[in-house]
Amino acid sequence: MVSVGMMSALSPFQMFWMATRRSLFLQITLMVLGCTECRPPLSCRNEAGDPVDWFIIYKLPQYRIGEIGSGVEYLYLDSSSDSWQMSKFMINSSQGAIGNTLNQLYEGKAYESNSLVYALYNDGPPVLKYIKGYGHTKGVLLFDHSQGFWLPHSIPRFPSFPDGGYLYPTSGKVNGQTALCVTFQYQQFLNIAKQLVYFYPRFYNCSVPASFLADLPQLAQLCKGSKPEPASKTSMKELVSIGGNTFLSFAKSEHLVDDIYTGWVAQALDADLLVQSWQRQGWKLPSNCSLPKHVMNIQRIQPSESVLFHSYNDHSKWCVSQTYEKQLTCLGDLNREVSQMRCGGGLICTFNPSVYNAFRRAVDWYEGC
Ligand SMILES: *[C@@H]1O[C@H](CO)[C@@H](O)[C@H](O)[C@H]1NC(C)=O
Ligand SMILES: *[C@@H]1O[C@H](CO)[C@@H](O)[C@H](O)[C@H]1NC(C)=O
Ligand SMILES: *[C@@H]1O[C@H](CO)[C@@H](O)[C@H](O)[C@H]1NC(C)=O
Repeated sequence: MVSVGMMSALSPFQMFWMATRRSLFLQITLMVLGCTECRPPLSCRNEAGDPVDWFIIYKLPQYRIGEIGSGVEYLYLDSSSDSWQMSKFMINSSQGAIGNTLNQLYEGKAYESNSLVYALYNDGPPVLKYIKGYGHTKGVLLFDHSQGFWLPHSIPRFPSFPDGGYLYPTSGKVNGQTALCVTFQYQQFLNIAKQLVYFYPRFYNCSVPASFLADLPQLAQLCKGSKPEPASKTSMKELVSIGGNTFLSFAKSEHLVDDIYTGWVAQALDADLLVQSWQRQGWKLPSNCSLPKHVMNIQRIQPSESVLFHSYNDHSKWCVSQTYEKQLTCLGDLNREVSQMRCGGGLICTFNPSVYNAFRRAVDWYEGC
């Protein structure tokens, strides 16, 4: 009330002068920060290249029931739509949502900037040899002191090193894959970095400039190739996107030797789960109904009327609550396989109704207990 009264006491000239001073102040601040670094806010980008709170991509497998596809088609979903859309782009073109998003790192050599943090991590990196011992987790982080995105995905050998620009690996074409991108404010990355410590991801290319070291010491350690020890076996954190959407991050370290779905997430969220994951013959964990909440393997997926495929052609990892009341969807890193019980990795869960409908309706057939 006091400030309103004071404003009305000012003459138009005084108000003009105040506004001018404010914009001058802003300009000077930007100059001091160095205007070579002026760039649009780092954000997930949609199919048209515009900022978006979150998006999900479902890259379709090449071998489908009754059809052989190109291996580069994908379905797209974001905060402005409520069902899967077939993309008009191919996943190996830099024009779609993933390309638009990653180009913020690639273009103008942004990766050389000392005003942003980035990390490319993948247990199976491009070019380099596979090394045992890291978490089974794949993704990208890119942010500055203001905001940025986290993009976990299931695609081996992706994304490419920054100097090569956007490239999609041939090995990523045959199987189904998913990617989730969420835009967060800077503060949220401090929590995300703590979750990554549990994963112990293989950072094959990254940068944590000096001005971030005080806030993100563990991220800097991961970037240098050392292994920070997590404080416990698991960690669950709530993350809020820039658009106000809540995501739950479940992170397990290698010290929790268990199936993340059955041993933890289903029981923690009190939900029976239907799980799509990449299960190799002989290593599969069967559907499991021995604990109070049950976990069942999805066998066949039909994300849209004309697309039907077997789980064994799909390398993605996601789950939904069996019942519609829960509206739970998670996307993540780990398969329901014996060997993955010993891996670091995680899941990101949401109660968003359109995400739930898109994935729950895609379940064509699952194996009961
Ligand atoms: C993308 O992949 C398709 C199918 O393999 C291929 O025909 C096309 O030339 C590729 N495009 C690019 C830009 O690599
Ligand atoms: C990341 O990759 C670029 C080339 O794409 C290279 O110049 C840079 O040194 C790499 N950084 C690290 C930390 O490996
Ligand atoms: C079901 O999962 C739990 C937790 O991972 C495990 O302890 C139990 O042995 C499993 N039961 C069967 C029948 O596999």
